[in-house]
Amino acid sequence: MTPAKILIVDDEVELERLIKQRLRKKIIAKEIELIFARNGQEALEILKSDRPIDMVLTDINMPEMDGLTLLDKLHEIDVNIKAVVISAYGDMKNIRTAMNSGAFDFITKPINFEDLNTTINKTLTYVKQIRETVKQLQQAQLQLIQSEKMATLGQLVAGVAHEINNPLSCIAGYAGISTEAVKNLLEHLRLYQEKFINPGPEIEEDAEKIKLDYIVKRLPIMFAGMVESTDRLIDISNSLRTFSRADTDAMVLANIHEGIDSTLMILQHRLKANNHRPEIQVRQEYGDIPAVQCYLGQLNQVFMNILVNAIDACEATNEGRTFGEIKANPNIITIQTELVQDPESVIIKIKDNGQGMSGEVKSRIFDPLFTTKAVGKGTGLGLSISRQIVVETHGGSMSCHSVLGEGTVFIIAIPRSAGGMKDQG
Ligand SMILES: Nc1ncnc2c1ncn2[C@@H]1O[C@H](COP(=O)(O)OP(=O)(O)OP(=O)(O)O)[C@@H](O)[C@H]1O
Ligand SMILES: [Mg+2]
Repeated sequence: MTPAKILIVDDEVELERLIKQRLRKKIIAKEIELIFARNGQEALEILKSDRPIDMVLTDINMPEMDGLTLLDKLHEIDVNIKAVVISAYGDMKNIRTAMNSGAFDFITKPINFEDLNTTINKTLTYVKQIRETVKQLQQAQLQLIQSEKMATLGQLVAGVAHEINNPLSCIAGYAGISTEAVKNLLEHLRLYQEKFINPGPEIEEDAEKIKLDYIVKRLPIMFAGMVESTDRLIDISNSLRTFSRADTDAMVLANIHEGIDSTLMILQHRLKANNHRPEIQVRQEYGDIPAVQCYLGQLNQVFMNILVNAIDACEATNEGRTFGEIKANPNIITIQTELVQDPESVIIKIKDNGQGMSGEVKSRIFDPLFTTKAVGKGTGLGLSISRQIVVETHGGSMSCHSVLGEGTVFIIAIPRSAGGMKDQG
């Protein structure tokens, strides 16, 4: 636990010694840390430069800048800092002014230390609650923005996939029919050539001009290539639609393997070989798992986040290694699935042999905004959103094992039954 920081502003040196002595236990227990200032001006400087201060305890009458002026300026620095004023007993005028300026509470001189203790506890509890609430709100807002962005992107992708689907089906259909037609035409041509061995110079010259022999040899290969390419485009288009499945309002019975495959298809551009390294090998060790009630579009986001992290971790280990060295010791991502009992769940393990993490990093990976990546490369939201999708939306669990320099594995469990899942309305 990091101690709460209390800034004490008073021009009496004697008070500093007394307070330190009376709050000794709290200081030793690292519950609080005291910082002292002699007047409002000094206090402001500390507040601006020092690490976040949780509470200010300030006298009213001080040289240079008094406590009431300090109170007014406090809000410009941090609206969440709570101030308690120390005033002379019966000085109602100053106490009223202080409270109207936003002081949280007051204590009177001579200080009753039991009262001081209670006031400190009360104030710190309040500050902690406020900080916690603000943090939760910020996280919720960020996650909302992020999931909103993903949902919009998903819709866009689904829309584009839908748009290209019709022309694509047309090309695929004609490519299939034309292949057959060309085969027949060539066969017909062969028959002609057999029957009319001497067609005359005009036809012979034209055959030469259009390189007939070459065309006859190449046409079937060209058509086979077109059919293969359209098949691939159809796969990609289907993957895009599976990946971005718009299933926000209800869970559907879905095939997790299809989700993973579509995600891998979308990540092809990052997995394939480039100038610096051979392709990242992906091993799909799929078990016999049943269809699962889930929001597949959201689970695909989870697979995407984990796989992108795994690719990043692999690329980080490649730094300083030559193409040949990487080839001898390749980047490998392994995806395993299986069904387990009690409770009946589908387990998905995604393992990489990338850079791994230190214990310190590992303990924070699910914190929103925690990232070790460069600005613009990572926002630190991927895993916190993934965990939310797995744990809160699907009632599952998500854990991670990692060894620095060796690799990382993420283990996701999705319960097969809908029990414990939150309905998304
Ligand atoms: N497979 C992994 N190997 C090593 N480190 C990892 C791995 N996965 C996650 N991490 C660590 O966890 C941190 C948090 O991951 P997370 O996906 O939440 O955020 P990010 O990847 O940094 O940014 P974002 O996903 O929002 O673009 C990463 O910055 C990285 O340090
Ligand atoms: Mg990430």
